[in-house]
Amino acid sequence: MNRPKVLVTRRIPDEGIDLLRSTCDVAVGPDERAMTRQELLDAVRDCDGVFVVMHNLVDGEFLDAAPRLKVVANYGVGVDHIDVAAATARRVWVTNTAGSLTETTAELGWALILAAARRVAEGDRFVRAGRWEGTGPFFFLGTELPGKTLGVVGAGRIGQAVARRAPAFGMKTVYWSRGRKPELDGAGARAADLETLLRESDVVVLTISLTAETRHLIGAPELALMKRSAFLINISRGPVVDEAALAAALAEGRIAGAGLDVYEREPEVHPGLLRSEKAVLVPHVGSATIETRRRMAVMAAENLLAVFAGRVPPQALNGPFAKGPA
Ligand code: 8YV
Repeated sequence: MNRPKVLVTRRIPDEGIDLLRSTCDVAVGPDERAMTRQELLDAVRDCDGVFVVMHNLVDGEFLDAAPRLKVVANYGVGVDHIDVAAATARRVWVTNTAGSLTETTAELGWALILAAARRVAEGDRFVRAGRWEGTGPFFFLGTELPGKTLGVVGAGRIGQAVARRAPAFGMKTVYWSRGRKPELDGAGARAADLETLLRESDVVVLTISLTAETRHLIGAPELALMKRSAFLINISRGPVVDEAALAAALAEGRIAGAGLDVYEREPEVHPGLLRSEKAVLVPHVGSATIETRRRMAVMAAENLLAVFAGRVPPQALNGPFAKGPA
């Protein structure tokens, strides 16, 4: 049996590459940049498996360029860059790394909540700019969390992990999700509709997947429902929020602040957000810890290898397809 050919579109932690190399011929994309569309289409032509990263668009054209392809293993959880239906129609497995980055992303959510509420990034800029001349009773006042309400939009793995941490900060939680989540009863959380959540929450955290239905889920009308004292945190996908509407809401003081890890047109950021002292902005680093990236690399590689071994990959998002080994 020939060794399956695998393209890894961007360098990932060695643990994943080493695992793939144990049974596959592996080509790895450039270290310092994403592969261009044309490079990708050329490179997948004779591949049995491809290991993609965020922003590698996997659509019908991509899949047609790779007639031998059996599996697309995503290095990450969100798969809005992958047309899963198009892959299913071609009997190509799609997998993600669900479960590998839950706690890490929830931690970043809390980092943004605390940074926004206590003006950490703004304070850092202030000190570095040499503007600190003294302190006073009303100097750099923020908002405290105990007794406040956390609103979690999309209570999947990450949303639940955010909610589980709320009692430690003295916050109660409301969540809006497809179903009720009995798992959250212990964290004192209750389900609510989106409108109630937006009206009642002091901190709204978005952890919902990006789909056609959730694009611009939070726009001007939704921001208008939020309290003027509330914060919006986005650790899901940028297009869930209408960035222009958010920038306007911040500029007009219609909400108190925002903490963002994701943007509508990454790596571009809306100029109104860049200008706002009330927005804490980090560059899509939800899963960016050494431990998590290693876990993601191994998990994605294991999914790929499972397909070549004729097994159902553990984090399959479609299938089963009985294609068997390469
Ligand atoms: C990225 C993410 O995939 O998992 C996701 O959905 O957004 C991130 O983990 C990561 O930057 C790797 O490309």
